[in-house]
Amino acid sequence: MPGKPKKACIVGSGNWGSAIAKIVGYNAARLPQFDDRVSMYVYEELINGKKLTDIINETHENVKYLPGHKLPSNVVTIPDIVEAAKDADILIFVVPHQFVRTLCSTLLGKIKPTAIGLSLIKGFDQAEGGGIELISHIIKRQLQIRCAVLMGANLAGEVADEKFCETTIGCKDSRMKPILRDLIQTEYFRVVVVDDEDAVEVCGALKNIVACGAGFVDGLNLGDNTKAAVIRLGLMEMIKFVDVFYPGSKLSTFFESCGVADLITTCYGGRNRRICEAFIKTGKSIKQLEDELLNGQKLQGPYTAEEVNFMLKTRDMENKFPLFTAIFRICSGQLQGNELIDCIKNHPEHMKSKLPSRTVYSKL
Ligand SMILES: NC(=O)c1ccc[n+]([C@@H]2O[C@H](COP(=O)([O-])OP(=O)(O)OC[C@H]3O[C@@H](n4cnc5c(N)ncnc54)[C@H](O)[C@@H]3O)[C@@H](O)[C@H]2O)c1
Repeated sequence: MPGKPKKACIVGSGNWGSAIAKIVGYNAARLPQFDDRVSMYVYEELINGKKLTDIINETHENVKYLPGHKLPSNVVTIPDIVEAAKDADILIFVVPHQFVRTLCSTLLGKIKPTAIGLSLIKGFDQAEGGGIELISHIIKRQLQIRCAVLMGANLAGEVADEKFCETTIGCKDSRMKPILRDLIQTEYFRVVVVDDEDAVEVCGALKNIVACGAGFVDGLNLGDNTKAAVIRLGLMEMIKFVDVFYPGSKLSTFFESCGVADLITTCYGGRNRRICEAFIKTGKSIKQLEDELLNGQKLQGPYTAEEVNFMLKTRDMENKFPLFTAIFRICSGQLQGNELIDCIKNHPEHMKSKLPSRTVYSKL
């Protein structure tokens, strides 16, 4: 017998939060296994003297973070996180990662104990006592719920335009898999579900660091070959990072949308690339450019680079990840942008020759 329709709540309403609300609202309205009404937690702000929640509920448009796109009318915005989440069976977390801990402590004990989570958040947090903590692990630990992740080559504007793309859900729990896939998949947004939760999430965070490198390359007018080299070395460092810190993950996960595809799209189209290009060209600080150019949207790459560096430094592993290290040092002003190439031209990837040795070669 089919159970009660499941209620979804979207925790967040930025650029990506609003784009995913369009999809979740559409599926909730048409599929019987979901409750029609989708609640969306909106961090309240005033737009020309009017509350953003009221504007979205009246016009069905997030005029600040996703202008020009209508949200389905069954998506209802609520400025109180507890009110928005209290009846939900599925909590979709899509806020910038710096706000997760506070939101989770507010929600503690106020949600259904049977609720499941899905984190769309890209980034890490510093763990107490050193190292980094995955955002889905924070959600699981603080709220005592199961939590899967969704990452992919999904620039929010293009998803909202309903341009075809793929995404990856990392989920170990076989009961959650079909629920999450059905809530998220559409004709233009195709979902692949894999078991490798941690690797999917780590890819989503690390690619933003590489995107900063791609932005530096663009700012320095170094061209497409150099950018491809940065993307490739970035991918190799991502694989190595997962291998060292999250052993047991599968190499095949890097060939899903969350891996190589997200890396490419972010290094050509994302906000981290754009701000880092401007950082080189204008000489302004990252923070200043974030405030000036992003209209309230948040940057992830430079902060993730700092968190990763904190972890690498404490383990004396900076030289094993020269690209991540150089990007952190450029973002934090310890190196000039034009020193990027010096830092990576003797990359460990170039040292492990796959050719026959010089003596054998010279006899050919
Ligand atoms: N935008 C994309 O294309 C995209 C794609 C995939 C994943 N992501 C990831 O999704 C996550 C959310 O990004 P986004 O693009 O939806 O957001 P955003 O950067 O567009 O907007 C920032 C959001 O943070 C909210 N906010 C500001 N102060 C807050 C506070 N104190 N507490 C709670 N919320 C506050 C704002 O109201 C706004 O909704 C990030 O981890 C991002 O990396 C984004």
